[in-house]
Order: sequence, then C-alpha cells, then structure tokens
Amino acid sequence: MVEHADDDATTEPILRVDDLEVRYQDVIVGLSGVSLEVARGSIVAILGANGAGKTTLLRAVTGLLPVHRAKITRGQIVLDGRRIDGQSSTAIVRAGIAQVMEGRRIFGELTVDENLRTGGFTVRDKAATAATHAKVMGWFPKIAERRGQRAGFFSGGEQQMVAIGRALMAQPRLLVLDEPSLGLAPMVVEQIRQIIVDINAEGTSVLLVEQNASMALSIAHRAVVLENGRVAREGSADELRNDEKIKDLYLGMGTAGRRSYRDAREHYKATNAAAAARAGAAQVGDA
Ligand SMILES: Nc1ncnc2c1ncn2[C@@H]1O[C@H](COP(=O)(O)OP(=O)(O)O)[C@@H](O)[C@H]1O
Ligand SMILES: [Mg+2]
Repeated sequence: MVEHADDDATTEPILRVDDLEVRYQDVIVGLSGVSLEVARGSIVAILGANGAGKTTLLRAVTGLLPVHRAKITRGQIVLDGRRIDGQSSTAIVRAGIAQVMEGRRIFGELTVDENLRTGGFTVRDKAATAATHAKVMGWFPKIAERRGQRAGFFSGGEQQMVAIGRALMAQPRLLVLDEPSLGLAPMVVEQIRQIIVDINAEGTSVLLVEQNASMALSIAHRAVVLENGRVAREGSADELRNDEKIKDLYLGMGTAGRRSYRDAREHYKATNAAAAARAGAAQVGDA
C-alpha cells in the first residue's frame, strides 16, 4: 500500500499542466487539451497505449519538443508556480526537472562516473554534487562497484540505474521517467520500482510514464490515462486499479499473461468484434 500525501488544497502543486496542446511540424496534433497536476511529494503515473501522447507530454514538460520539430500551441506548464513552457531544456533542468528518457539513453563510451557527471552539469555547488554522487552510489551498489567501467557494456537494468543516477545528479525536485521498466526482467523491474519509491520517500516528486500499468499503479498516488492525445481518465491509483475498463485494458486481469497494451487492445478489439458478429448474426437471423 502506498502512503498517501496529506491532501492540502492550499498547497501549490509542484507541476501543473494546463489545457496543453502540442503539434508536430505545425500540423500533427500530439496532445490536445491536456490538464493535470503533480502534488508536491507525490508520484503521478501516466498510462496509455502506444501513440497516446505520453512521451510527447514528457517532451513538453522537459523542454525537448523543439528537438522533435514540435511546439506547444496552446496552454501552459507551471513548475512551482512559475511558467516553464517555452524555456530551454537546460533552463528547465536548472528550474528543477530532470528526466530519464525512453530507452535509457546513457553514454555507452563513458564510464559510470562520467555519465553521472554529465547529469550534474547544472549544479555549481561541488560539495552538493559530491554528496549526491555518494547518495546515488548508495542507491545503486551494483553500479558503484563498476563506477570506472564503460556503461555501454552493462545489462539493461544496470544501464537504467545509470540513467536514473544521472538524472538524480541534477538534484531535481521533480523526476520524470519515460517507461523505465520497458524490456527489463521482472526482478529488475522490481528493483527499479523500489528505487523510485525510495527516491520519492526522500521528497522528490515523480512523473512516471509506464507501459507496466500494474507496476505504476502499485506505487503512484494518482494516475492519468491518455488516449489519442487527450486525458481519458484521471483518479487516485486505488480508483484506477479497481476500474473495470482500466483492469480490462491495461491491467490484463483475469487473463493470464495478457500484460501489454497492444495485447490488451487486440483483446478488446476481438471482444468487440465478436460481440458485433453476434449482433450481426442475430440481425440476419431476425430478417
Ligand atoms: N517526432 C514526431 N513527429 C511527428 N509525430 C510524432 C512524433 N513523435 C510522436 N508523434 C506523434 O504524436 C503522437 C503521440 O506519440 P507519443 O507521444 O510518442 O506517444 P506514446 O509515448 O504514448 O507512445 C502519435 O500520434 C505520434 O505519431
Ligand atoms: Mg512513448
């Protein structure tokens, strides 16, 4: 069970996304009318099928839209009461948001230590950087043992730890992760899950995009479901875990092994098709 943060309506959320619209190349709509909040100190999960707009949302929040020939065409993003939409990705890191990108992009040619150093480039305080480095090493004993080795040869789970460690070196108030468990073995997913819980317990707010909805909902306080660039559902993790449609579409409950969105969607389509076929057959029978 997740310990829920005290609900305090007067507390400004760490992140507020307001009526956000994003377009790629001025035409392709990536997000439309998306509003959400991350309460200070909480974990918010973003769920949704492939192409729903999850990564686009993170790109908007971290200032990386221009790299992908996209821009915010409506709405705003507010970090700690200050607008950050339109700011550069470096300015946004300085403002307090660090991200772990999809596909755990680390510098394979660099050692663990060198990778971590690239994450701390915005932090001027040497003592603070050394303290964060020590903390990261404590969190990831496996990569601490190999801190002088090139990270490119590490396993997927170890690379993910380097990627998370690098993001933490920026000493973020909000950590943003894009599908950190993707492609990892269940035991490694469990380690990553625990690391996110620990990071959050130390006071860092988390915006977590996950394909693995059951993992995400097991640690999130609230969750937002995106469909076709819009918010389809928002609620507490408990509410969403017990929602029949969410269970059917994203949690694969009652159907052993059906865990991915793609499978869930196929299952959903097949169920609908079967129902439609039955209805069609009934109509033919009626004629
Ligand atoms: N670089 C891009 N150029 C054009 N369209 C893009 C680009 N990246 C994403 N999109 C479009 O934006 C929508 C949302 O994609 P994305 O945010 O990657 O979804 P998700 O992360 O949920 O799988 C999709 O329709 C996708 O085709
Ligand atoms: Mg994505």
